[in-house]
Amino acid sequence: MNSTQQKLFKQAQACLQHAYVPYSKFHVSACVRSAEGDYFSGCNVENASYGLTLCAEANAISTMAAQGHREIAEILIMSQSDSMITPCGACRQRIREFANDNTQIHLCNAEKIIKTYTINELLPDSFGPQYLSEASK
Ligand code: THU
Repeated sequence: MNSTQQKLFKQAQACLQHAYVPYSKFHVSACVRSAEGDYFSGCNVENASYGLTLCAEANAISTMAAQGHREIAEILIMSQSDSMITPCGACRQRIREFANDNTQIHLCNAEKIIKTYTINELLPDSFGPQYLSEASK
């Protein structure tokens, strides 16, 4: 792992412990590095009203956006599982909002990065702002 990957990994590892998962007991965390080089992490936060559960990626990306950052350079996603997990469909769309062709999406287990994807690999032919601007012409 290079130095930014190591930093993402460490922050995600620390955040994983804070996952609030009384229902699924499945800890997930994510850490984003913005284009400006700042790091934002988030974990999943469940709710007794199950559908209100917030995914780790949503939490990390919202935290980034709330600090005024608009571009994801890298995002690392981690769970407690021995194998890597892939982001859910909704979170792929959330990543897509702030990603570009060079954004690296690292999927890992508790020990190391297993695979790195681009957003186009995880969400080909995605819906994006281009459709909205076409509609307003
Ligand atoms: N989860 C995430 O945080 N991110 C994903 O991409 C997949 C699923 C969480 C939601 C829920 O708290 C738990 O994992 C089990 O689905």
